Amino acid sequence: MRKSSGPSKLFHSALLPILFGCTFIVSAQAPVPDSPAIEAQAHALLAKLTLEEKIELLGGMDDMFTHPMPAIGLPRFKMSDGPVGIKTWGPSTTFAGGAALAASWNPELARRVGEGIARDARARGVNFVLGPGVNIARSPVAGRNFEYFSEDPFLASAMVVPYVEGVQSQGVIATVKHYALNNQEYNRHNVSVDVDERTMREIYLPAFEAAVTQAHVDAVMNSYNLVNGVHATENNFLNLKVLKGDWGFQGILMSDWDATYDGAAAANNGLDLEMPTPRFMNAKVLLPAVKDGLVKESTIDDKVLRLLRAELRYGFLDRPQLDLADSTYSVADRAVALEGALESLTLLKNERNLLPLDPAKIKTIAVIGPDAYPAVTSGGGAAETQAYEPVSFLTGIANLLGPNVHVLYSRGLPEMRDIFQNTQWEGGVSVATYPSADFTGNPEMTSFQAITGLSEGSLQPDANLPRSIRYTSSYTAGKAGKYLVLAFSQPWSGGEYKVTVDGKQVLAHPPIDGQVPQSASIDLKQGQTVSVVAEYIPHVTEAIRFGLGIVYEPEMISAEVRTIAAAADVVVVAAGFSAETEREASDRTFSLPWGQDDLINAVAAVNPRTIVTLIGGGGMDTRPWLSKIPVLLHAWYPGQEGGTALAEVLFGKHNPEGKLPVSFDRSWEENPSFPWYYPIQGDDTSLHVTESGKPPVDYVIPHVKYGDKLLVGYRYWTTTGKRPLYPFGFGLSYTTFSFANLQAPATAASGSTVTVSFDVTNTGSVAGAEVAQLYVSDPSTKVSRPERELKGFAKVRLAPGETKHVTLNLDARAFSYWDEAARKWTIDPGKFVIRVGDSSENTPLIADLALN
Ligand code: BGC
Repeated sequence: MRKSSGPSKLFHSALLPILFGCTFIVSAQAPVPDSPAIEAQAHALLAKLTLEEKIELLGGMDDMFTHPMPAIGLPRFKMSDGPVGIKTWGPSTTFAGGAALAASWNPELARRVGEGIARDARARGVNFVLGPGVNIARSPVAGRNFEYFSEDPFLASAMVVPYVEGVQSQGVIATVKHYALNNQEYNRHNVSVDVDERTMREIYLPAFEAAVTQAHVDAVMNSYNLVNGVHATENNFLNLKVLKGDWGFQGILMSDWDATYDGAAAANNGLDLEMPTPRFMNAKVLLPAVKDGLVKESTIDDKVLRLLRAELRYGFLDRPQLDLADSTYSVADRAVALEGALESLTLLKNERNLLPLDPAKIKTIAVIGPDAYPAVTSGGGAAETQAYEPVSFLTGIANLLGPNVHVLYSRGLPEMRDIFQNTQWEGGVSVATYPSADFTGNPEMTSFQAITGLSEGSLQPDANLPRSIRYTSSYTAGKAGKYLVLAFSQPWSGGEYKVTVDGKQVLAHPPIDGQVPQSASIDLKQGQTVSVVAEYIPHVTEAIRFGLGIVYEPEMISAEVRTIAAAADVVVVAAGFSAETEREASDRTFSLPWGQDDLINAVAAVNPRTIVTLIGGGGMDTRPWLSKIPVLLHAWYPGQEGGTALAEVLFGKHNPEGKLPVSFDRSWEENPSFPWYYPIQGDDTSLHVTESGKPPVDYVIPHVKYGDKLLVGYRYWTTTGKRPLYPFGFGLSYTTFSFANLQAPATAASGSTVTVSFDVTNTGSVAGAEVAQLYVSDPSTKVSRPERELKGFAKVRLAPGETKHVTLNLDARAFSYWDEAARKWTIDPGKFVIRVGDSSENTPLIADLALN
């Protein structure tokens, strides 16, 4: 651990011990100001700056840098995305991050991941890591859940604090994001999240609060969305009342990339740094605003001081950030990446104890599926890093088994581009490219044999010219049955498209429900010819990339797949999402990507020893095949060492210990956010935005109402008494554990720290780790509260037969709710119930506690 180049703020060395793991969250600590020397230096530098120069410092440059100011010896400082690895140039160590890391329920591991990422940052001269992300995983279809920790604020807080401390201990500023309520990717720039304060305080804000008040994070990133009708970057409540007011945040509040919409409003409502360029907080806007008294110069000064203090606190002006004592390829951090993957793999089903497999009894193993090879390390978007030698599931299994076992592999399904390439369009495809975004004007006509998504290179538009493209053709079915219609557009923002078959719309993007549909199934008779029309409007700054194909479903899974599956002693089907199908800037489907349900069923039909592994940031639809397979392992996005970890778990070299950090639903419709996920029709408002030098734009603001309020994830399941597919906190092991001897006081004073202890015993025959989870209920509450809430946990590693006594401390917050009227955390004295167990559903230890 580097100590010398970490922040030199007094409170960083005076932190109370954070005992997650046998834990409680300490209450907010008053922020301690910077040392007088830093304060004086920051003010001295500020005094040398003109107003213009100060304003210049409030905007970023070159996508990932702060603005330099040579006049005061201030260089530009570099940023790089996280949170699963550093993403600045070249490959980097890719860790099990976000949801995977949370599935380990190991805060100390989060610290080591934070340290590792920051060491990599130092080896590349990076000053700011743009992570971790702590938004609540409210819904399984949200595209960035894989980056975020959990549906539960306590678990998310427990992970973010050591992660941030780990990053910042290495002399790198961590940036907690996306503040706040960015729980969906659908229409993320424009959507307003409408939510009451209690829900915010109890569910959506605590992980940010913990990062600020306990880990003293030095940067926070505002999200794209609006909250209660106001963009996060200009949201007085979020930024000034809560973040800088209630929590005493001393650091830098930066915008997400192009999340600013009004320079003066952002300046007056807490934003310190507009990234990546000053489109709004610039001299053109702010100089007259200061002159007219619309923005005070002291407000600008406060922002500059925040930037300078943080940079001084970390010694950025006194030492090179590039530290050659660190490594860009670190064997030690590769080991941490492996630890993360090992601790996060979550075993959900293990019928007849098929796992662990005995390698001595296996002569042939088949590894099948789109996620088997190459390795899928993380979801897509800003977080996606290029891993060093990522170990695929196929490679990991083959490496572990060695040369004497036959390893058979098939992708199982065709690549999308092969479907596009092989689609036989009747007489080719006629392509009309219009010089407008609405199919008006004189089109340029061309024709293609296939719509591959890549071959239209010659039509790349000038970045500023609008285009709309209509593809027209027809398709004749060779056989009767189901055909898959598959479309693809530029993954980042995608533009818009719709596909019709015989005049009926089968696909649309963006679709009405916000998920990304890539495929639709249609029934055709033998010899039937259908007309197919696709209309595509690329975003003007994007290249034209649209692909379309049709494939006969029964032939998607080749005979070879069934042959190798039947021949193997055991089959691993690696299914799930990937960086293309689960990513930033779009939501994902709840069902598996096209073809995968059929693939699992086809394999299970010929081999009863079928193990399914799933990659994904949360739950997905397992109904089409779950009852037909004996083993289900959730692998999250396991980082670069996922294949090694999976093999170790399958063959019993490592006992699985991951526990779900989110509830797994049977269907998307039964998720509590479902009725509230999409904007309410007719509630749209509009927003007039004027960017200097550009014509004003009117945005439509759809409103999403969080009517599920506090009942997110397991809070809903336990309050309603219904049961999800797999509960929050659940995960199987190759051994068994028991809980006993709960000791808790019968009464205690409200506001005091309550100590609870109990025994956990490994009652099986192999070593393993259990996560003991403590839930608090408040049956005598005056307001309505979730039936139970996680307020402590401990990960306990036990040898066979071993017992450990675990102690957890519960502070005042563990019993409190946010009192809307009084606007403060409040405890209703009376009866509380403490429950301890191995998931949100299974809590065998129960004790009553009266708070007076
Ligand atoms: C993402 C942020 C990211 C930033 C810089 C944005 O699109 O939302 O999470 O840090 O880009 O890459």
